Amino acid sequence: MTHQSVTPCAVSSPALSAPSPSAPSPSEWWRDAVIYEIYVRSFADGNGDGMGDLLGVRSRLRYLADLGVDAIWLTPFYPSPLHDGGYDVASYRAVDPRLGTLDDARALVTEAHGLGMRVLIDIVPNHTSSEHPWFEEALRDEPGARDRYVFRPGRGPGGAEPPNDWESSFGGPAWTRVPDGSWYLHLFAPEQPDLNWDNPEVRAEFEDVMRFWLDIGVDGFRVDVAHGMVKAEGLPDAGFTGQLKMLGRAPLPFFDQDGVHEILRSWRRLLDSYPGERIGVAEVWPPSPARLANYVRPDELHQAFNFNYLAADWGAGPLRQVIDASIAATDLVGAPTTWVLSNHDQVRHVTRYGGGRRGVRRARAAALLTMALPGSVYIYQGEELGLPEVLDLPDEVLQDPIFFRTAGADRGRDGSRVPIPWAYGESSFGFSPPGADPTWLPIPRDWGGQAVIPQLGDPRSFLNLYRNAVRLRRSHPALGRGAMRWLDSPPETLFFTREPGLLCTVNLGAEPVVLESPGTLLLASSDTRSNGLQAILEPDTAAWWSCATS
Ligand code: NOJ
Repeated sequence: MTHQSVTPCAVSSPALSAPSPSAPSPSEWWRDAVIYEIYVRSFADGNGDGMGDLLGVRSRLRYLADLGVDAIWLTPFYPSPLHDGGYDVASYRAVDPRLGTLDDARALVTEAHGLGMRVLIDIVPNHTSSEHPWFEEALRDEPGARDRYVFRPGRGPGGAEPPNDWESSFGGPAWTRVPDGSWYLHLFAPEQPDLNWDNPEVRAEFEDVMRFWLDIGVDGFRVDVAHGMVKAEGLPDAGFTGQLKMLGRAPLPFFDQDGVHEILRSWRRLLDSYPGERIGVAEVWPPSPARLANYVRPDELHQAFNFNYLAADWGAGPLRQVIDASIAATDLVGAPTTWVLSNHDQVRHVTRYGGGRRGVRRARAAALLTMALPGSVYIYQGEELGLPEVLDLPDEVLQDPIFFRTAGADRGRDGSRVPIPWAYGESSFGFSPPGADPTWLPIPRDWGGQAVIPQLGDPRSFLNLYRNAVRLRRSHPALGRGAMRWLDSPPETLFFTREPGLLCTVNLGAEPVVLESPGTLLLASSDTRSNGLQAILEPDTAAWWSCATS
């Protein structure tokens, strides 16, 4: 067993992250906020049609307030033919009737504010639905309508080949031909035609849409594909196949072009023109941490998702490397880093970390590691319950376009979007009211024990670990904006302090580690014995200690 002395109150290594280079005012709420992602169709069903909706979200706001989150982010709830789970928007100033009404949206914002939570909503500016009136006009070739999208003639004899070699993120070519022979670009599904952001009408429309929702009172936007709106001049070939494997690794002619920053700057001015610190969050996959930092320069968006953290393997080396690189990149521009473990596009991290008991144990430890880091934390619905990815959904219920466009080779993302179990033993585990239609994706039969209500009653549950961690993060003076310093630690462990007075220890190895004088135990992800002088940190365990030894 490795022994390690930790004297967290007397360290001399340099701070990795100072409180903040620009000494932000404490009201910059987003710098250390805990933000909860709600995938609306899978969160809670209020009207009994088996699909989550705004009424359902409203009925569960108290649960979220009790969890202690600062804000919620709602994925798209706009009218949509659902070719991509609502990221194919047919109307940007309305609510899908299956999910509620505009009045529900207004009430939701008011009620969340009343409970002390801010509300972010998704905006999808890279593409519309093919059922958006603009695209219908473009198909009819009405004057000027095609210039709102990216239509081009094809290559080769008769223009029968796509205009370039770009691939859709969901598989297959990124171009579809319309009956008159022209081709249109869709970086995602054919039902999601890309907009032409060189057209001032497109820019004006989105500013107006944002004003519409800001006037309703939303606190900001999660910007879908924020790196995608501008394409390289002339739409040059990417030059290789399997482009998507290069996402986040290499420059691509359709993502992360410099021109997107001017658009984001104009949105920042718009956000700043409203009272109450409204924010923008970029969904970006840039090829390097430095390119990611561009999106959060002081005059651009406030946060960008840090997917490199999510992609890191469970190991001290990979995690320390990504933590250091992430903080270094955003520190350069004075922005906070975000920490994301799961979302509606990714395999849930209980499963990514190995699944079963091991995955659960690691996910619990990851929660304490993540919530001890400086910056803002995102929680994806159900991660606080320790839900795994559902890997055995039958083919006939799958809805993700990735499944269809890869002819089933990739089963897609539905396994992370299964409805949330709220209660043990009730029909649909309390997701829908009694007597409702079946849920839009089936909930595994053995999820009863993981439902909210039984977990609330168990002090050792996943949910109570999250509730305790979020609360401590809010109340401990160091966990918000305190400086972070790494401490020396044995192989396969990560030890660091947040100042003043908090130590986080994570054992990612296979052997227990004995800690000498770590301080007073505040919270641990699994059983941790401590007698005040010595403590044993078991494998795949994280613990928070207060170095005030009283
Ligand atoms: C990112 C969203 O998170 C994802 O669900 C969607 O499929 C793509 N953007 C396209 O809008």
